[in-house]
Amino acid sequence: MVTDKSDPKVIVALDYASREDALALVSRLNPQLCRLKVGLELYGSAGPDLVRELVGRGYGVFLDLKFHDIPHTVAMACKAAARLGVWMLNVHACGGPVMLQAAREALAEFDHRPKLIAVTVLTSMDEVQLHSIGVGNEVAEQVLSLASLAAQSGLDGVVCSARESARLKVHFGNGFLCVTPGIRPQGSATDDQKRVMTPAQALAAGSDYLVIGRPITRAADPLGALQAIQEELGSY
Ligand code: C5P
Repeated sequence: MVTDKSDPKVIVALDYASREDALALVSRLNPQLCRLKVGLELYGSAGPDLVRELVGRGYGVFLDLKFHDIPHTVAMACKAAARLGVWMLNVHACGGPVMLQAAREALAEFDHRPKLIAVTVLTSMDEVQLHSIGVGNEVAEQVLSLASLAAQSGLDGVVCSARESARLKVHFGNGFLCVTPGIRPQGSATDDQKRVMTPAQALAAGSDYLVIGRPITRAADPLGALQAIQEELGSY
């Protein structure tokens, strides 16, 4: 399964400030081995042209802009993203069921419908932060509650920690996608990630796609680092 080149499991996080830096890395990768995540920083500087270029080079692109606005605005933003040809995009589950359904319905008309996933609780939020915005739940409870909202609204899955994947699969089924950052191959620096899992551990825990940044982007040989991860996944 994991060696299926039509569905690479690794999503490389393009956490760069400029188009040039991003493309310098991308030209050292291979679209059969990974997908690419474009977030707010890179999108803010390089915009839709870069996304089109990455798609044109054969990469599946996860546009990580975390939409959260009134339903109509989010629906239109989703359509604009889908027109770029992205493979995946995301919205905040706390936008509520009407917003989530509007996002899903907005994408229904596209032949190659992007996967639509939800952000539940940002990992920067702890219980104190949640309470400060009026949420009384503990973090784990709130993750489950927002994931449930995403599932009921017909979304394809959530961004989550690999530690949450198994529980989410039990609740929402195997088809509910778990997209997981916080991945570190054995022996690589944890950087600012607090709790990490190896690629193989994350897949074993139920994650479907692995968002990996610095272990690949800062490697002396990014393609070699990616291939080593593929080998680890292939033997899982
Ligand atoms: O370099 P590293 O592998 O830590 O990058 C992880 C990527 O996943 C970054 O783009 C980061 O913003 C993103 N992310 C994360 N933790 C979350 C959500 C997203 O690390 N909870």
